[in-house]
Amino acid sequence: MAVGVFDSGLGGLTVQQAIAARMPDLPLVYFGDNAHAPYGVRDADDIFALTCAAVERLWQDGCDLVILACNTASAAALRRMQETWLPADKRVLGVFVPLIEALTERHWGDNSPPREVAVKHVALFATPATVASRAFQRELAFRAVGVDVEAQPCGGLVDAIEDGDEILAEALVRSHVEALKRRMPHPQAAVLGCTHYPLMAKAFQDALGPDVSVFSQADLVAASLDDYLKRRPEFVGPGTVSRFLTTGDPARVSAKATQFLRRPIVFEPA
Ligand code: DGL
Repeated sequence: MAVGVFDSGLGGLTVQQAIAARMPDLPLVYFGDNAHAPYGVRDADDIFALTCAAVERLWQDGCDLVILACNTASAAALRRMQETWLPADKRVLGVFVPLIEALTERHWGDNSPPREVAVKHVALFATPATVASRAFQRELAFRAVGVDVEAQPCGGLVDAIEDGDEILAEALVRSHVEALKRRMPHPQAAVLGCTHYPLMAKAFQDALGPDVSVFSQADLVAASLDDYLKRRPEFVGPGTVSRFLTTGDPARVSAKATQFLRRPIVFEPA
């Protein structure tokens, strides 16, 4: 029994870590497409092709269910994969819906009409491709009315994190938060809409100030997966071994992952 966790690079490790903490007996196969990161500057066809190739590789390791722990792939490829590509005995789930359910105080399966929610001014930080897709606003509009979303495409931030350059990453966080605050001076909540960004969560919180609630996806996705597998246990696939796979240089990717998560992580070639 194994579940696949996919990201363009290191960011999905934030989700993998939260799932492993919540379900320690569940084998997880992580796939980082580091050779092709960042996805956030690619077009939708390219993101679709790369994401399908990664999911097929995870099937080989016995993962019938794959979490796209990547907002860019969830925004640009997930719907097309589900509608045109995915066989009936496999599942692919994205990371948007658990976050939006938390923001709008909804539970899974609540399909009631959109309603007023407590939060009115939301700052969204995400990759250029995720911001351009407007997938976050679309999912939000199904559930809530009257929420003003100001989105900031955080160019360069995924590259800095993938390169292990924490100083540049912190400077980019500060400048992207400043740019957003010029358009929305007092957000009530901030959504880290890229799974790389929780690796810089402290820098975001410091730049936004203590009054802004910062939402990130890792724990929300882990809770949602736990719930899903209780309802659909047949989608825990036949794989039995946890491993970390990368399309990049395994030694380099292992070193960066170990640096960011502050525990040893060893990647193998995908
Ligand atoms: N972690 C991916 C996301 O959540 C990063 C995308 C990228 O590679 O630009 O969007």
